[in-house]
Amino acid sequence: MKALITAGGRATRMRPITHTINKHLIPMANRPMIENAILKIAETGITDIAININEGDTEIPKVLGDGSNWNVQLTYIEQMGGPKGLAHIIHNARDWIKSESLLFFLGDNIILGSIIPFVEEFKTKNLDCLLALSRVSDPQRFGVPEIINGVITRVIEKPQEPPSPFAVTGIYAYSPKILEAVAHIQPSARGEFEISDAHTWLIEHGAQVGYQEITGWWKDTGLPQDLIEGNALMLDQMHEGNGQTATRQEKNISIQGIVSIGKDVTFGQDVLIRGPVVIGSNCHLENCYIGPYTSIGTGSRIVSAEIEHSILFNAVEIQQAGRIVDSIIGEKARISAASLTLPRCGHRLVVGDNSSVEL
Ligand code: DAU
Repeated sequence: MKALITAGGRATRMRPITHTINKHLIPMANRPMIENAILKIAETGITDIAININEGDTEIPKVLGDGSNWNVQLTYIEQMGGPKGLAHIIHNARDWIKSESLLFFLGDNIILGSIIPFVEEFKTKNLDCLLALSRVSDPQRFGVPEIINGVITRVIEKPQEPPSPFAVTGIYAYSPKILEAVAHIQPSARGEFEISDAHTWLIEHGAQVGYQEITGWWKDTGLPQDLIEGNALMLDQMHEGNGQTATRQEKNISIQGIVSIGKDVTFGQDVLIRGPVVIGSNCHLENCYIGPYTSIGTGSRIVSAEIEHSILFNAVEIQQAGRIVDSIIGEKARISAASLTLPRCGHRLVVGDNSSVEL
């Protein structure tokens, strides 16, 4: 079995972050988001993995390399003609897939728990397609299965009136029959070759389509707030061994709970860190409180501020900024008190396109 991970698309809903970074490289607990997909696939024993990238993208191959970090072999496939939908990704990769069965994994989906039982069920039941379903409160955002007498009768992409409370999650297993399906479907009203239409095509053409319900945690990171939630869940996975609990009395530094601290992090006076927290290498912390579910990228500097439940990319500088919560702060961003320069009042902002600021 081979695996194909998606890492292309436009990610317009994630702007402004995705103006400067591919969505799949956004750090979750200080690791690129797509690493979660690679790790989950590697655990199943699949080593031959292709990554679908946008035409001309060099960023993803540069970061992920040949896969040796995870003991897998990575191949990069450019999606020719642009991001024309999930079914188009499979069609575009047909020469690489050949006649193998395929695990298709959306690189912006984060799941906790193992996918080994999913792959095992696909193999033992000899299916053409196995879908992983998750019960959600907002099925309109997803592909939704119609299930009659325990059998999926069709899958509808982002229906206004969902026929069931389930989302089809971004983990799919296929026999080579999927190549026939993706070659036969037509673009949807929004101009994409929809994976849901390929599933309906399989059902209508007598293929064996099964499903399994994912009861563990699953997240499609479609919106910025999903990133903060995903980050929190990844931080919750940190083991006791990664963390440290310590007090350094001479400088009044207190580290509580699971906290991972990178190399060459320096501390000034008065720091309280309450895990789960990850702090990258070469950061400096002084007179600050870092609260639960915060990731701080390498080379960041935080002085006289409080930060909680937030993601800071690399080389962020925060000084006298009060309390920051539920925030995503991009690389090399600087946040400081207006009172540090003249005139002393008023918000002084340089805010990029599509940014969102709550004052
Ligand atoms: O997350 C599950 C949902 O994913 C399913 O329930 C839907 O049926 C499925 O269509 C998909 O919906 P999304 O609207 O979330 O798909 P999105 O456009 O966000 O793309 C999913 C992944 O595929 C993401 O990693 C970006 C990548 N992508 C997307 C397109 C359209 C590509 O690499 N190329 C593309 O052409």
